[in-house]
Amino acid sequence: MVICYTGKDFILNKNMRVLSGMQPSGNPHLGNYLGAMKQHIELQNQHEECFYFIANYHALTTVRDPEKLREMTFELAVDYLALGLDPQKSVFFRQSDVPEHTELAWILECITPMGMLERAHAWKDAVKKGKKESSVGLFNYPVLMAVDILMYHPHIVPVGKDQKQHVEIARDIAQRFNKTFGETFTLPEALIKENVATVPGIDGEKMSKSYGNTIDIFAPENILKKQVMSIITDSATVEEKKNLEKNIIFQLYSLLAKQEEIKKLREKFLNGGFGYGDSKKMLFEKIMDEFHTPREKREKLMQERNYVESVLSEGGKKAKALAIKTTEEVRKKVGLD
Ligand code: ADP
Ligand code: TRP
Repeated sequence: MVICYTGKDFILNKNMRVLSGMQPSGNPHLGNYLGAMKQHIELQNQHEECFYFIANYHALTTVRDPEKLREMTFELAVDYLALGLDPQKSVFFRQSDVPEHTELAWILECITPMGMLERAHAWKDAVKKGKKESSVGLFNYPVLMAVDILMYHPHIVPVGKDQKQHVEIARDIAQRFNKTFGETFTLPEALIKENVATVPGIDGEKMSKSYGNTIDIFAPENILKKQVMSIITDSATVEEKKNLEKNIIFQLYSLLAKQEEIKKLREKFLNGGFGYGDSKKMLFEKIMDEFHTPREKREKLMQERNYVESVLSEGGKKAKALAIKTTEEVRKKVGLD
């Protein structure tokens, strides 16, 4: 079941424009895939226009090594293509190929109240953790994200639940601009799939790169296996029947397996005589099975730098054409023409 958090009576239809982005900040994990990337690829096959991009301007808030940023940007493009993103169907681009984002960011920053950004969870967390390196860029992060969205007038923004507030901020900024300068921006809706809104990590907390609790879908087999085998369980013995409620193995397996397979695993857990070790092996095999083709495709694409670069630069041209249109309209409306 899909939830649209921001609007009322929202009905998805195939004429709606879809947009989402992801930071090149490390290896994609099961949470990124199930909560976001999988939806992006499914939507591409049902919707007329999809825009997906690599948010490398955003990554500058944390990455300080230029070579690493370049490499992670390339690898995220490879990951998306390996998972089935089709550049014939979607406009797939690198955010920095469209520098108009930064100009529009300045303009929208000028109508964004400080208080709105001070209330952003991501900023509050950074301050709470006492991150000395918290920069103005990190504070303004939601405005740049609003720009990424509003620039292309999408109706829906498929993301995991942790991005819900950012989409609401984009909506709020769009309303402020429209009210002040006249109808310009489409109000976006966050599209969040209920069962994968927050995928748990190996410790039961939200799976996240920053918590070190991930299962990385493209990690070498031995590392992926180690991650799955480290999933935290209760202390029930092999003989005992297992609790399904806080059972991370069962939760993750259920997000990947067919109904019939889920039913079988449920029975095994409830009957007892089936240890967590064996269930972890089942989950590991399920993951290897799900990502068998993407993992092979990824290996090949890693050797095809020119092809990947050409996909991004073609996508960049298409995105830029639209971005120029929006920016020109905004320049006129605010009096910068
Ligand atoms: P991370 O928290 O690991 O740094 P990102 O912030 O890069 O992840 O998230 C990229 C996308 O994946 C976003 O749309 C985000 O909402 C989604 N996402 C990340 N972690 C999860 C999770 N555990 N469950 C569901 N979606 C997630
Ligand atoms: N903030 C998002 C994340 O961390 C990435 C992102 C940047 C994004 N711009 C966006 C997502 C626009 C959706 C739409 O995952």
